[in-house]
Amino acid sequence: MKNKLLIIGGHGAVGRIILKNLLDKGISENQLVIAGRSLDKMTNFIEKEKLRIDYRQIDIHEPIKKAMFEDIQLVVMCIDQKETTFVEELMALKIDYVDITANSEFIKKINQLPQNKTVSVVTSVGLAPGLTNLATADYIKRYQPKTVAIDILLGTGESHGEAAVHWMFDNINQPYHIKQASQPIKNFTLKRVVDFTPKLKQRETYNFNFSDQHILNEQYPKIPITTYFGFDMNIMTKSLHWLNRMNGLSFLEKKQVIHILKKVMKKEMIGTDAFAIRVSNGKEDDKNGFSLYGSNEKEITGKIASLVVYRVYKQQEKVGIASIDGILTLDDVVNETHLHKFIN
Ligand SMILES: NC(=O)c1ccc[n+]([C@@H]2O[C@H](COP(=O)([O-])OP(=O)(O)OC[C@H]3O[C@@H](n4cnc5c(N)ncnc54)[C@H](OP(=O)(O)O)[C@@H]3O)[C@@H](O)[C@H]2O)c1
Repeated sequence: MKNKLLIIGGHGAVGRIILKNLLDKGISENQLVIAGRSLDKMTNFIEKEKLRIDYRQIDIHEPIKKAMFEDIQLVVMCIDQKETTFVEELMALKIDYVDITANSEFIKKINQLPQNKTVSVVTSVGLAPGLTNLATADYIKRYQPKTVAIDILLGTGESHGEAAVHWMFDNINQPYHIKQASQPIKNFTLKRVVDFTPKLKQRETYNFNFSDQHILNEQYPKIPITTYFGFDMNIMTKSLHWLNRMNGLSFLEKKQVIHILKKVMKKEMIGTDAFAIRVSNGKEDDKNGFSLYGSNEKEITGKIASLVVYRVYKQQEKVGIASIDGILTLDDVVNETHLHKFIN
């Protein structure tokens, strides 16, 4: 029977939070399977967490072994991919698919596949992309702004998974396009100072190549939407800006430096684990702008992903290739995750 839910990377940093939340929602252990390349990592994880779930050795860069997917109804992907071959193979097998990747080139490639309403294939799932897409769609629907700024604040004290750290520093030096500029721009060049919440005031953010803006700019072609990013500690954000000005960001792409950064960012070393997102028209006095905030970005990413996965798994109707807003509204997420909202 095709009724199991397979989490690829279900033993990784975000994957394990998705797994826990699905168990909390009442999905039984015998419906859940995790997959990855390392049998040792999976068995250690299952033993340590005292779980009675199945695990399968799968490398997504190898062709699919159909036998491994015969009982699978839905795949959750917790690792970045470059090509859509794997997803296309799953679609051909009529297996639903939810992807938490933050890689916009890959999400765009999925969106360009022929629409197929016999399965659900959902991307832009998590905090950013994910919550930021829902918040922006809500803000645009209510206020029809001429332009949108998405500000994202992450805590320097939060521990991050290996894939997430890689994603951030692999991309840091890549110029990218925004609607307001004719030439590609570099990360950390356009500065803003943002009051996220009464406790997180005057935080610096800079333009950053998050995927949400690219997907949203395709969805709302007439409204320039730009994403800015900063840390809870201004000194960290400033340092990245100055490294950029000195053409030093390429330093962060070096193997040895990434190795050290991974160690630092996987541990909770300095700062807090607060996170916040803010959506506005980019002006300080925007009375309609609002922030959503909480602590532990990994936890909220996993929670939001589990809401999407649960809904796709339980609902009969197939949505085809869709973004998070094809499955959930902002209110669904705010109500179910108890995120705090701040309006000024
Ligand atoms: N949307 C958002 O807001 C958001 C926020 C944060 C992170 N993310 C995304 O979440 C994903 C996971 O991040 P993370 O920090 O949880 O990563 P992580 O801790 O490094 O976990 C990655 C998992 O994927 C498995 N894996 C790696 N390569 C694989 C392969 N070739 N085939 C099969 N499994 C493989 C790993 O297990 P093995 O080593 O056993 O293979 C591991 O369990 C990333 O794609 C990141 O971009 C999204």
